[in-house]
Order: sequence, then C-alpha cells, then structure tokens
Amino acid sequence: MAAADPAGSPSGNPAGNPSGGSSKNRRSIAHRVRYAVRYPERVPAHARRVARDAWLRLKHRDHISYYRAVMAADTARSPEAAVGHNPSVEKWERIGRMQFDYLVRHGLEPRHRMLEIGCGNLRAGRLFIDHLDAGHYYGIDISPAILLEAQRTLVREGLQSKVPYLALVADLSFEFLPEGYFDVVHAHSVFSHSPAHVIEQCFAHVGRVLAPGGFFDFTFGRTEGKEHQVLHEDFYYRTETLVELARKYGLSARFMDDWEELPHRQSKIRVSVLKEADGRPGPDVSAAP
Ligand SMILES: C[S@@+](CC[C@H](N)C(=O)[O-])C[C@H]1O[C@@H](n2cnc3c(N)ncnc32)[C@H](O)[C@@H]1O
Repeated sequence: MAAADPAGSPSGNPAGNPSGGSSKNRRSIAHRVRYAVRYPERVPAHARRVARDAWLRLKHRDHISYYRAVMAADTARSPEAAVGHNPSVEKWERIGRMQFDYLVRHGLEPRHRMLEIGCGNLRAGRLFIDHLDAGHYYGIDISPAILLEAQRTLVREGLQSKVPYLALVADLSFEFLPEGYFDVVHAHSVFSHSPAHVIEQCFAHVGRVLAPGGFFDFTFGRTEGKEHQVLHEDFYYRTETLVELARKYGLSARFMDDWEELPHRQSKIRVSVLKEADGRPGPDVSAAP
C-alpha cells in the first residue's frame, strides 16, 4: 500500500508513519539517510516501491489511475496490507474499531445515512453497516480490486441483509449521489494518499450531498513543517492549508483534538457547511476541479 496508515511502521517506507504534527520532511535526503541507517532491513522494500512508483507513473499520468494500480498490486498481495500497511488481521480490526467507536461517541445513530469515501475492504465499514439501518451505508472507492474484497468482507460478516451500497468512482464529484442526503461523510486514510487537487475536488462537492447539520470527517497526514509527499503515495499537509481550502468552498473546519488522544498517527478534521447566518460567502464552486 499506501504507506501512510498509522497502524504500524510500514515495511520499507522511509516516510514512516504520518506522525501527526511532526515537522520532518520525509522526502529530504537527510531524512532518508537517517532512516536507512536506522532501518537497514527496510531499504530493499523501499527500493522496490521507488521502482514501482516510477513504472506506474510512466503508465498512469493521472493520480487516480496511478493509485488504482497501486491498490491492485497491494490488494493482490494482501487486502489487509492494502488498506493499512501492517497486514495483521488484529490491527485491521483494531483500526476499524477505532474509527467506529469514535463516530458512535460523536453521535452516529442507526437512523443516520453515511457515505464512506475510500471504504477499502470495509475495515470500519463492516461495523458501520452493522450499526446502521438497512440501506443507510454507502461506500465508494476508486479501486475495483478492493471493492471485490469489500464484498468478501460483507459475505464473511453475514451483512447481506443490510443492503449496503458499494460503488466504484473515478473522482470525488459525487454527481450521481442525491443532494442533502448524508448525515455523516467519513474518509479515513484517504487524503493521506491524495494530492491537493483531489482533496479540493472533494471539498468543492461534499457540501451538496451533506444533509442539513451533517458533517464530513477525514484524516490526514499532518506536518507542522513544509508540506511534502513521498513518492506519489503519501501526502503531508499543514492543518491550516486544509482549513483554508475547506473555507474556500463554504465549509467550516474543526481540528478534532479528541482524535489526537487515540493511538493513531494521522490527524482528523471535521467540516460542515457554513450557515448563511455566519455571514460567510457560499461555496465558490465556479473554480472547482
Ligand atoms: C489506506 S486505504 C483505507 C481504507 C478504509 N478507509 C479503511 O480505513 O480501511 C485508502 C482507500 O482509499 C481509496 N482511495 C484512495 N484515493 C481515493 C479517492 N480519491 N477516492 C476514493 N477512494 C480513494 C483506496 O483505493 C483505498 O481503498
């Protein structure tokens, strides 16, 4: 995968974990050298990722097709590893449970309608589906390979009667989804693998599908230093950048401090639609990607 999931240390990734709040630039030569000296056993795996990155970038110029190819390769190796770099089933369950418990603590009720962006193989989705009323969960992902794994998870967990929707998407414009429909939109470890234009497209359109009073939670690899990326897989943003970008599209953004208390190295932001009463301008969708 996709190295930036916080569940553990990725094999062969000098990025290490997103390590919320760090100011280190994982792309710098100095960081890479230090990492190689500290973890020499991970160097060969990282070298393979560098080679794969170069090859896939040659074949796929746009990020979505590139990342789809990354997911296809990683899912073939291990679906658990594809959504979280440590392939242990125990960690897969634990990170899924953490996402679920957090949202339930924040008021997720069976009657709510939920959209999960980048649902993967339903690490958390299986718990959301079980909790929500039938037909209230909608999972989307860019990867056909991982969506097939999601179906296997549904069967394994016996969740067919909950009739969740699982849809393949090519972008985050949500055009095929209804207006004002979802109480909760959730994206875990998706923006940590997304360049800014993908996040911007999501911000430009997510307000349309949010129900009144609804919110959109997402995690991200946070840096307090220079924003950077490792290969084309892992991206690190400053909180202010994402807050400002959200505001451009009429969304208010809140850094979720209570998420920081959990053993997870990405950070979380919650956005909701700014009310007109706040005296703020509406979303500027004219320039939306
Ligand atoms: C690290 S996995 C996390 C999966 C799931 N959220 C979880 O916590 O298990 C990232 C997932 O996001 C999907 N993804 C990446 N970029 C996406 C995008 N722009 N739109 C939708 N899905 C995306 C990937 O295919 C992958 O399934």
